[in-house]
Amino acid sequence: MSEDVVTMDKIVALCKRRGFIFASSEIYGGLGSTYDYGHYGVLLKTNVKNEWWRAMLQERDDIVALDSAILQHPDVWKASGHLAGFTDPMVDCRTCKARFRADHIAERQPGIVCPKKPSKVPGEGPDCDLTEARDFNLMFKTNVGPVESTSSVAYLRPETAQGIFINFKNVLQFARKKPPFGIAQVGKSFRNEITPGNFIFRTREFEQMEMEFFVPPAEAPQWYATWKQIRFDWYTRLGIRPAGLRLREHEADELSHYSSGTADVEYLFPIGWSELEGIANRGDFDLSAHAAESRTKLEYFDPGSGERYVPHVIEPAAGADRATLAFLVDAYDEEQVDGELRTVLKLHPRLAPVKVAVLPLVKKDGQPDIAKEIVASLRGLMQTEYDEGGAIGKRYRRQDEIGTPYCVTVDHETLTERTVTVRDRDSMAQERVAIDDLPALLAGRLAQPWSSPKLG
Ligand code: GAP
Repeated sequence: MSEDVVTMDKIVALCKRRGFIFASSEIYGGLGSTYDYGHYGVLLKTNVKNEWWRAMLQERDDIVALDSAILQHPDVWKASGHLAGFTDPMVDCRTCKARFRADHIAERQPGIVCPKKPSKVPGEGPDCDLTEARDFNLMFKTNVGPVESTSSVAYLRPETAQGIFINFKNVLQFARKKPPFGIAQVGKSFRNEITPGNFIFRTREFEQMEMEFFVPPAEAPQWYATWKQIRFDWYTRLGIRPAGLRLREHEADELSHYSSGTADVEYLFPIGWSELEGIANRGDFDLSAHAAESRTKLEYFDPGSGERYVPHVIEPAAGADRATLAFLVDAYDEEQVDGELRTVLKLHPRLAPVKVAVLPLVKKDGQPDIAKEIVASLRGLMQTEYDEGGAIGKRYRRQDEIGTPYCVTVDHETLTERTVTVRDRDSMAQERVAIDDLPALLAGRLAQPWSSPKLG
């Protein structure tokens, strides 16, 4: 692994400079820990989600898609345990007014320090005056309809998973599936996190990519092992360097009440090893809880064997924003080129927001016209950008910073020879190619397997 120069500050600065991701409500002074995605950010995160869908739907035939409502019946959260148990114990310091998670203080986690005396853990500074730990429910509460009353209370979903469990019966009927099969969903979730932070790593509004895989109970341990490996491999296939990725099995005291096994895919972010995705063996907890609460049978009847059972569930639960951050961090690189600093995102070409930029060397002599013709021939195949503004070196740097794998340059020879140069983002090598060959050449290269040039 080449030496990493990346820091969270550099990622935040690049994201703002190039319009990937920036603070929300900026003209009103911002709203803590909420972010808006600009053009390149939307393209990148959409590519991350599309790759997840591809792995779940296109490359398999045992998973179906779902898009359930964000607002659900409040009893969903009663059955799931979120109303009673979805809390973080917090302590406040009466002196400095800072708020900490009690478990983070107890574990003496890095970065959890007294703001007045950063060499001390909260509670151990001379002026610290901590309250007792109190529970905060992390669900956002709202009201459905014009009248606020207890009967109109609803919650913004804190995870997409429950929308899948409550639709188990529908999918079983309409998709004509039998275990083992999965239901996949991507969408926004909301948690009133007490300690959001580290850019888009932990926010109050975020997107999840979750899949619930329903299996015969006896097959659960084997599917749990299978899904851990599949999900780990997904990140490395998309270019994350294996040395920065690990699977960490939860200790018994970390397991949720329903889980008989959970492992996290962790990535070595600049803030240290942190969770990217959780894979859990949830047993029959969710289907049984919703069956009891809704008085609806949520089970599978096998007409062949006459067997009736409540399937067990293996759940890979990932965050789209957190994965986007990991891909950005892993791709970020700086190089000295001709005495100048080149900042480049060495993203997997499938994730890169723009696949090819077409650049006329000068804004005259018919070069822009040919460049636009080329853009038109590529646009239907891949995300293409036209840029004629500024010196060519500057335009290459701009494309490097957003991770564009190929730049096509139109020059004076193009007019007579109908050839262009193709510049490779990672090697910066340039080759001369006939205009007519471009679409097939670029499409072919983008489809090839790729590994990070940062591996050396
Ligand atoms: N249904 C299980 C579940 O929601 P989780 O570990 O709480 O499990 C799954 O969440 C993934 O969602 C996490 O691994 C993370 O990638 C993402 N995630 C959770 N809370 C988040 C937050 N506040 N901000 C950004 N991503 C978050």
